[in-house]
Amino acid sequence: MISRAILILFLSTSIVGKGSFWHGVDRKVVTQHIAQQTQIPPDELQAALSFWQKKYTKHFDSWAPFYPIVTNIIRARGCQVGCEVGVAFGTQSEHILLNSKIKKLYSVDPYLPYPHDSFPRGSTQQSMDVLALCIAARLARFGDRSEFIRQTSVDAAD
Ligand SMILES: C[S@@+](CC[C@H](N)C(=O)[O-])C[C@H]1O[C@@H](n2cnc3c(N)ncnc32)[C@H](O)[C@@H]1O
Repeated sequence: MISRAILILFLSTSIVGKGSFWHGVDRKVVTQHIAQQTQIPPDELQAALSFWQKKYTKHFDSWAPFYPIVTNIIRARGCQVGCEVGVAFGTQSEHILLNSKIKKLYSVDPYLPYPHDSFPRGSTQQSMDVLALCIAARLARFGDRSEFIRQTSVDAAD
């Protein structure tokens, strides 16, 4: 019984991916890259990263169970090209890229601090810029299979 529970736990974590904000990237390299790109003072950059790390921990467990549902549809239909509208931490896009043979996935999100949306609540445009750079870095490891588009869905469709 216990071994079955351990096996199920192992399978579910391997299916949904890792539970750390920094998975798939080198934390130091990405932090340096963001500092160069944005010129954000170091203390403000660290504050923004801590903010997103806490949010990641809060959201991941509730979002992750849905990732295999989307990925399984893509696999079952043999989809070659897809688009995720609303990328946030990039973990659904990543799940699709890791667990399907999709040839191209467009990941579209403007990373704006929309006041009516619970995901960016408490964020600023500056912290959204930091998050966008983190997620672009995470998805970059998939090369040409992934295209990160920082625009609203309507603008990206044009
Ligand atoms: C709930 S989160 C997405 C979660 C993500 N799909 C997942 O499963 O991990 C919603 C996202 O939609 C994005 N968003 C809001 N309006 C958008 C728009 N017009 N076009 C694209 N993305 C948008 C927000 O910036 C936010 O990152």
